[in-house]
Amino acid sequence: MKARQNTILITGGGSGIGLALAELFMKNDYKVIITGRNLKKLQEVQAVHPELYITPCDVTKDEDVEALVAFTKKQFDGIDILINNAGIMNLFDSGKKGNDLEKQLDEVNVNFKAPMRMLHYFLPQLKTSTNAVLINTSSGLAYVPYCQSPVYSGTKAGLHFWTRSIRPQLARHHIRVVELLPPVVATKLAEEADLTDSRLKPMPPEKLAALFWKDFTSGKEEIAPGISKQLQFFSRLAPRFIFNQLNKQSVPKIL
Ligand SMILES: NC(=O)c1ccc[n+]([C@@H]2O[C@H](COP(=O)([O-])OP(=O)(O)OC[C@H]3O[C@@H](n4cnc5c(N)ncnc54)[C@H](OP(=O)(O)O)[C@@H]3O)[C@@H](O)[C@H]2O)c1
Repeated sequence: MKARQNTILITGGGSGIGLALAELFMKNDYKVIITGRNLKKLQEVQAVHPELYITPCDVTKDEDVEALVAFTKKQFDGIDILINNAGIMNLFDSGKKGNDLEKQLDEVNVNFKAPMRMLHYFLPQLKTSTNAVLINTSSGLAYVPYCQSPVYSGTKAGLHFWTRSIRPQLARHHIRVVELLPPVVATKLAEEADLTDSRLKPMPPEKLAALFWKDFTSGKEEIAPGISKQLQFFSRLAPRFIFNQLNKQSVPKIL
């Protein structure tokens, strides 16, 4: 029996891009579940949007994700759309003595390994949906690395290639695979990575969500709004040029 179609789970949905996507899907009559590590933050969002479902989950932990699978099965008989959106971005100078190795490995865990964990545990639920979609939020930096955030750039490029690789595999199970590659968006993540006052002109999250929706509903698989589209174009046409443009300063100023 495959009656379910419109339940969506968004990791890191309590702020920024994830929250803007949650609001958009709610407006379009989806049942939206958001997760994150910070329950208080999720409760504050739910106070504004009482129709939202919330549950805490650290995507780097098997036991949290298994509990999330049980929760979605019991409450909704499973999910139809999974958005792997949770992410972190740190600046590092890899040539500097005393870099925090654990912090670098944690970035790999959240940005790269967690989407695989989520798919692994949610695959059975996606397979029973008539409208199954996996959406991975990578970054325009998957096209061109940003030297000041080397681990981030590596994880997003890895996520991009993983997403492209699994797309035809999951198509055989009627699961659509979409990738959202945002440009600089005005969120806490961008602010903490010192990106918000740059020449990259941060996009409001609501605008990104609206652009995503247009492409998502027209069936696009790789959604690269704003400057991400230019990064995609120049990474093919003039890779050295765009690399140098983006990396006039290779070492972070704020470390
Ligand atoms: N903003 C940009 O310029 C930009 C550009 C390209 C791509 N992106 C990508 O967009 C996605 C969303 O980022 P954002 O800009 O909206 O930043 P954000 O507001 O900081 O959102 C990131 C979310 O991830 C959650 N999160 C972090 N670690 C987690 C973990 N271990 N388990 C579960 N949730 C976790 C955070 O919630 P808790 O802290 O409560 O766990 C937070 O809600 C990220 O994947 C990011 O890489 C952002």
